[in-house]
Amino acid sequence: MNRVLRGKFVTLKHFIMKILNIFEYEILSNLNGYKIRKLHRPSLMFVKEKLGKDLVVAEVGVWKGENAEDMLKYLPIKKIYLIDPWDLDVEEGAKNIENLTDNINEEEMRQAERETIKRMSKFKDKVVIIRKSSTEALKDIKDKLDFVYMDIFGARKDKGIRKEIENYYKKLKKGGIIAGDDIDNGKSGSLGNGVPNAVSRFATENNLDLFINKRDWWCIKK
Ligand SMILES: C[S@@+](CC[C@H](N)C(=O)[O-])C[C@H]1O[C@@H](n2cnc3c(N)ncnc32)[C@H](O)[C@@H]1O
Repeated sequence: MNRVLRGKFVTLKHFIMKILNIFEYEILSNLNGYKIRKLHRPSLMFVKEKLGKDLVVAEVGVWKGENAEDMLKYLPIKKIYLIDPWDLDVEEGAKNIENLTDNINEEEMRQAERETIKRMSKFKDKVVIIRKSSTEALKDIKDKLDFVYMDIFGARKDKGIRKEIENYYKKLKKGGIIAGDDIDNGKSGSLGNGVPNAVSRFATENNLDLFINKRDWWCIKK
């Protein structure tokens, strides 16, 4: 394709992406072609649009590796750190809310870890699994990151959230993106406003624009 045609194609693709986003759909592309689906993690779309290639990224809170697989399929990732201890004590210890993990038992934890390993097997050269808590894993991340996705706060309402975001923000390159799930906590009542409060305080104190779409939030490092 010559340069003019390629330019027109990119503009058309962005236009179609914007229209789809309005209707809460997203278009995902990889070497196997295009796929349209219900908008899931809007921050990933933002990363795909804004950041370049050969990305070094981290996901904090991996569970079965479903989001990690999505990122590896649809973002131009050179290396991904997957951080999760798959440890009920860490999951429980992070919580102030009763009954939330009553339905997660040790066997389900092990199963989630096994599923992650299976899912990641086809991307193995790119994947670094760190079986530690978010705080303990910090020293094992040797690179500066382009993107970090934090998905460990869903059941928390404590003050530690703000500090954890700050720690991972420091790991980013300038222009890198920090994002996370659960910004809508608080709507449901039982989970409290821990995540929205911590994220908005973090963004305000660092003088950052805060983007919110569906349950995702994200900021660009200055
Ligand atoms: C909501 S799940 C992650 C789902 C995953 N991001 C996805 O979308 O496919 C939360 C995960 O965070 C992990 N987790 C909880 N507290 C953590 C912590 N302090 N550090 C690292 N992982 C943690 C849990 O073990 C669990 O697997």
